[in-house]
Amino acid sequence: MEKLNGKKKLVISVFISGRGTNLKSLIEFSKKKNSQIKIALVICNDKSAKGINYAKKNKINFLIVNYKNKNKAENKILVNLKKNKIDLICLAGFMKILSKKIINIYKNKILNIHPSLLPKYKGLNTHKRVIENKEKYSGCTVHLVNSKLDSGKIVLQKKIKVFKNDNEYSLAKRVLKIENLTYPRAIRKFIKTNL
Ligand code: GRF
Repeated sequence: MEKLNGKKKLVISVFISGRGTNLKSLIEFSKKKNSQIKIALVICNDKSAKGINYAKKNKINFLIVNYKNKNKAENKILVNLKKNKIDLICLAGFMKILSKKIINIYKNKILNIHPSLLPKYKGLNTHKRVIENKEKYSGCTVHLVNSKLDSGKIVLQKKIKVFKNDNEYSLAKRVLKIENLTYPRAIRKFIKTNL
């Protein structure tokens, strides 16, 4: 926790791999009056990821990590998390699986956003599977990260209807909009219930 203007803020690192719309929405959330969070570091495993531009534009420290050697990559990440006094990690479209080492060091301090109503549709290609299975509802989930994929305790979930004429792309688009709204709300809830 960092004291800014006499108020305590949760210091966050956001991990991304691509587009970064959830990062963008978290940055906007952090800039709100009386915000409870500060984004101190963006970590990305792909130097061509568009999302990095949101960090640049907002003058947020960012780190590109080469994952050729996962152990080395994670050690570099850990050093930088420590250096930046990170309280909470927010995974936002981060396509690498964290090892038990990081998960244990930041136990109950790592959140992820997943584009389905967990525990349904863990893993990749969620929207395609939702459409194929003719689900009536889909949505997104923010959850704590443990060592099993997409399986940690749910912090917040938001449900939307799947329309009859939806395909995986139209559904993905609507779920993403909901994700961008849900992640900041989940952090607010996390702060209320965990700190
Ligand atoms: C989101 O759909 C998120 O749920 C998933 O990856 C996507 C990332 O989107 N884990 P963006 O990079 O935040 O735009």
